[in-house]
Amino acid sequence: MTFYEELHEKLYTGHEIIDKQHQDIARSVALFYDHLINKHHKQTILGFLNNSLNLTEAHFLYEEEQMDKTQFIMKHQHKSQHENYLNEIRKMIKDMETDQLDDMQKIGKIIKNWVFNHIIGMDRKLVEHLLII
Ligand SMILES: [Fe+2]
Ligand SMILES: [Fe+2]
Repeated sequence: MTFYEELHEKLYTGHEIIDKQHQDIARSVALFYDHLINKHHKQTILGFLNNSLNLTEAHFLYEEEQMDKTQFIMKHQHKSQHENYLNEIRKMIKDMETDQLDDMQKIGKIIKNWVFNHIIGMDRKLVEHLLII
């Protein structure tokens, strides 16, 4: 099963917009990961990672707007996970640009794990809240 299929099947939250955004992010991460594994040119890999970062930033913004609008009780904790993740990705991009990354495959795994853990642990709680208000 590909990362994209896995995400689609296991991490469905039931919120149409959030699920669509997660799928787009999953697709971009899967592309990045494939190019990483196949050791493609650094600039190509960076392009996919930057695309993934842009989609993720837009998605986090959407979730955070929903949290603010509906006074979600866990919003500070949730937002800080978003911020930590964005900082990690930005650091990876910087390190990749300056050739300071030695274990490229580890990065792919970090991203995959993070996406899964965050969606299961935090996004599902947010969606439960959004769907009952
Ligand atoms: Fe989130
Ligand atoms: Fe999310």
